[in-house]
Amino acid sequence: MYYYWEGFGFRKGIVMTKSQAQDRLKSFGQEHVLKYFDELDADQQEGLLTQIEETDFAVLSRIGEAGKGEARGQFAPLAAMQLDEIERRRDEFHDAGVEAIKAGKTAALLLAGGMGTRLGSDNPKGMYDIGETKPVYIFQRIIENLLDVVHETDTWIRLFIMTSEKNHDATVSFLKDKDYFGYKEDRIVFFKQDMAPACDYNGKLYMEAKDHISTSPNGNAGWYSSMVRAGLDQILVDEGIEWIDIFAVDNVLQRICDPCFVGATVLAKVSVGAKVVRKAAPDEKVGVICLEDGRPSIVEYYELSKEMMDAKDENGDPAYNFGVILNYLFHVPELSAVADDKMPLHIVEKKIPYIDENANLIKPTEPNGYKFEQLVLDMIHQLSTCLPYEVVREHEFAPIKNPTGIDSVESARELCKKAGIVL
Ligand code: UTP
Repeated sequence: MYYYWEGFGFRKGIVMTKSQAQDRLKSFGQEHVLKYFDELDADQQEGLLTQIEETDFAVLSRIGEAGKGEARGQFAPLAAMQLDEIERRRDEFHDAGVEAIKAGKTAALLLAGGMGTRLGSDNPKGMYDIGETKPVYIFQRIIENLLDVVHETDTWIRLFIMTSEKNHDATVSFLKDKDYFGYKEDRIVFFKQDMAPACDYNGKLYMEAKDHISTSPNGNAGWYSSMVRAGLDQILVDEGIEWIDIFAVDNVLQRICDPCFVGATVLAKVSVGAKVVRKAAPDEKVGVICLEDGRPSIVEYYELSKEMMDAKDENGDPAYNFGVILNYLFHVPELSAVADDKMPLHIVEKKIPYIDENANLIKPTEPNGYKFEQLVLDMIHQLSTCLPYEVVREHEFAPIKNPTGIDSVESARELCKKAGIVL
């Protein structure tokens, strides 16, 4: 089966047969997936066949690469456009951005397919209420931020929302119930990201139920290939969308499609604009924008050598000083360079719930296998040019990863209040 987009929702296509599924599983040595097939009801059978059809089993053959890490190239600094220059050229950038937005060339894409495991809520992360005196949902904060631009430019920006199989229904019904927090329904398109299978250390798929292979969303870079698979790239063509602002669900202060950022990126004629913040300390745990073998890249904090931490630019400032905040403006014509088959696969050890041989659900307390992910930061390295664009941390960076402590509901609340947002 497949999904295709029709108006506001998805419709189902035709599903593969049991014997086709058997052939497919056999070729990957995963016949156990159909162990309970004959005792399932018709809907469950269809669901499982759909999963067998849609799941990318080829990744299982790569578990030998787990833990080896990516071979990295030669790092060099990549200068960011800093606040003083942005301030000096604000009108020029702003005008160019407004022009691109008004011409319908800019879309926004919310990455909301993640599991939000660290936050520990059963609901999608965007449904989390950070309010104190009234409800203020994460989705609401984000949509209100985008609405600022909609009102300023008098343009309903196309908004794509990527969910996953695990949180799609809850996300769609929550947003519908809240009347999309004032966003125009027909300017929103939901799509589900592709799922990646989870397996044990020998590459054998785990089942999370008799009718379901254990899967998880295929990483935050899944947005582009999932969008294409859903046929939504046609919307980009039909509507003449040239730029897509990709952003995380959990940064409740970020500005989305803000005209200055859009204008600066468009005028710089780069493949991608990346919002960055100045690092709070040389060893801060953020990915730092840089060059790797002459192409834009992101070096993780644990990969920063002592020399890189001490390196200075021509002004005597730290040369690797700007961290990414998962807000990127991609130039659509260059996106074919980031098709999933060109991207590295991260094989991550995780705790994977599964059913044992008696079909009892086991929730392991220690890692018991692998999940497979592709990451947005690897997309940046596939592109030829990038504009790192500095934003003020206290104005635009309030990520919510955990309930308390660093990057938490607590820290985001404080930042929101400082920014004058009533919670
Ligand atoms: P994180 O890497 O912080 O993951 O996602 P997460 O799933 O939200 O949280 P943890 O790690 O389980 O606690 C950064 C952004 O990328 C999205 C998330 O929804 C968030 O907006 N994301 C992540 C996806 O859309 N799909 C994915 O497969 C992974």
